[in-house]
Amino acid sequence: RLLIIDFGSQVTQLIARRLRELNVYCEIHPFNTVTDAFLADFAPKAVIFSGGPSSVFAEGAPMPPMSVFDLGVPILGICYGQQVMMHCLGGRVERGHGTAEFGRAYVSKGAKPLDWLNGWFLEDREQVWMSHGDHVSALAPGFEVYGTSPNAPFAITADTERNFFAVQFHPEVHHTPNGKTLYENFVKLAGFKGDWTMDAYREEAIQRIRDQVGDGKVICALSGGVDSSVAAVLIHEAIGEQLTCVYVDHGLMRKNESEQVVGMFREHYNLPLIHADESELFLGKLEGVSDPETKRKIIGGLFIDVFEKYAKQIGGADFLAQGTLYPDVIESVSFSGGPSVTIKSHHNVGGLPERMNMKLVEPLRELFKDEVRALGRELGLPDSFIGRHPFPGPGLAIRCPGEITRAKLDILREADAVYIDQIRKHGLYDEIWQAFVAILPVRTVGVMGDGRTYDFACALRAVTSVDGMTADYYPFTHDFLGETATRIINEVPGINRVTYDITSKPPGTIEWE
Ligand code: XMP
Repeated sequence: RLLIIDFGSQVTQLIARRLRELNVYCEIHPFNTVTDAFLADFAPKAVIFSGGPSSVFAEGAPMPPMSVFDLGVPILGICYGQQVMMHCLGGRVERGHGTAEFGRAYVSKGAKPLDWLNGWFLEDREQVWMSHGDHVSALAPGFEVYGTSPNAPFAITADTERNFFAVQFHPEVHHTPNGKTLYENFVKLAGFKGDWTMDAYREEAIQRIRDQVGDGKVICALSGGVDSSVAAVLIHEAIGEQLTCVYVDHGLMRKNESEQVVGMFREHYNLPLIHADESELFLGKLEGVSDPETKRKIIGGLFIDVFEKYAKQIGGADFLAQGTLYPDVIESVSFSGGPSVTIKSHHNVGGLPERMNMKLVEPLRELFKDEVRALGRELGLPDSFIGRHPFPGPGLAIRCPGEITRAKLDILREADAVYIDQIRKHGLYDEIWQAFVAILPVRTVGVMGDGRTYDFACALRAVTSVDGMTADYYPFTHDFLGETATRIINEVPGINRVTYDITSKPPGTIEWE
């Protein structure tokens, strides 16, 4: 196995992700837990030093134990990791007065070839992503330079005797397009076969859950979304009946959704699952409310109350399970206390752990969405389920601008079902990040048969996106749009006009509220 020593970079997990893509098993450990004894016990086949925000000049700057250099295994140092390596092995690091580099840079080929760089430098220079203040100014004995950038004369360095490699840039990020090659060459050189799989990940995750939970009780809010579903099934495999799931039905789910979700998890997976039908409560409290943020706050608050009620009913729980993914972790770290503005109050069960004195179990914390899907497949969740579009916690409430009524929700559910059916029939579902109908607080005049109609208008929304942060509208053909409009108007009483929303994000958002 490979050891990543974490010096606090925002992107350390991306290193792990690149290695998982190469089917190499790795573990990330914070530098202050990596002692001589730890190293001897862990016996890594290779080590990577992550980047980090510190300066080797700072008092108490994060350092690895010197014994790591005597293990006789390949080491790769990245950014701060490079500076640490030089600092420890007798080179020099300088403060970056005026030589800091942030963002895109180009590294040019050094004079000598290096096996580790096979497949790199396809041109004479490679695009990389830099993010450093300090830089190396003198190499440690044994090292040579194999690539330079304008502000990092030692952008790529190596000691080929000892198989120590050190780079100033970040090969793990997307903006170093060829970065994967460097990881690939590194793990090959360290003798990894690349035979580690998601199945193995599943076994390890199960063991970690068992270690964390012991004989404690875990409760999980299961929404039927991919993340909470995968988390629940995984935890259930680990601890069986110690887990209870609560499916909170706020009356704002789509057509047949509650039956499908509850049916699948009860029958297929045998999960201990409470179906909390609280639609009266939610819809009652939402009566007469049309402000989007007020809707969100009411739903979020009730959700916590309801969840707490059911948790008490089963005699409390020691842990709350959540399907938190790695991108959520990065965002909450980099933005916590930051100056970002609240566009929408996202609905989640934050606040609950403190209120109920529970600890968190988050078995997907280090995974990305596509990896969660792969894990879901491994756990036997059906493909149709794993590929489902995201559905927001407040459900149809935020797709019903203006006042929410049961009648409008019923119309919306029918229209949405027809629209999604159309998308599936035309084979477009997987090309689209998210698609839904919003029912508008507008009634318009129409003519059907020989009669006048005065019914609701609705908007179709479909976007492409990678992460939901930015999005573009999906370019349906006119035929598709026409056919879908006709079907909705013919099949859904209450709607007599259909529009298509062609707003991207930004300036729009994906949901209407
Ligand atoms: P917006 O509308 O902000 O949505 O562009 C971005 C993505 O987030 C989803 N979304 C939510 N998901 N709770 C959730 O779990 C929420 O309160 C919530 N609001 C928006 C939205 O569906 C889209 O995928």
